[in-house]
Amino acid sequence: MPKVSMKVNGKDVSAEVEGRTLLSTFLRENLRLTGTHVGCDTSQCGACVVHVDGKSVKSCTLLAAQADGASVTTIEGLAQGGNLHPMQAAFKEHHGLQCGFCTPGMVMSAVDLLQTNPDPSEKEVREWLEGNICRCTGYHNIVKAVLDAAAQMRGGQQAAE
Ligand code: FES
Ligand code: FES
Repeated sequence: MPKVSMKVNGKDVSAEVEGRTLLSTFLRENLRLTGTHVGCDTSQCGACVVHVDGKSVKSCTLLAAQADGASVTTIEGLAQGGNLHPMQAAFKEHHGLQCGFCTPGMVMSAVDLLQTNPDPSEKEVREWLEGNICRCTGYHNIVKAVLDAAAQMRGGQQAAE
């Protein structure tokens, strides 16, 4: 079996995997990083979003072999030094989750949005998160959380209600 090597959440990892192994499977089953969820088999739900070389990617759409040599960040790698990432803190603060199944993917997608657009409008947040499906929340509090995290990360005040 071919060997794949990558950096995951800052640590070098490698394993022999079948060529057909998806990145999501590699993360969950080889590395036991089960914060990356798998909610569909049609590349639609977005629960599996991680960052590959800094960009959000649905990890069920990529083979582990395609991420060979890459730097991958999962939801487990977002908090630093025991402190939640501002996006995680904002989801908590604004009740941006109910069952939590979609949350890792939502958070990882939203963090990527702010990397390229630190001051998104509500419409831009909604459009960006189009590829992330939530069955529970109606999206309102998720959008509120992302806007607030953006404000916090810009060093401003809390976003308006
Ligand atoms: Fe990847 Fe649904 S599990 S998009
Ligand atoms: Fe349940 Fe989003 S919180 S799917």
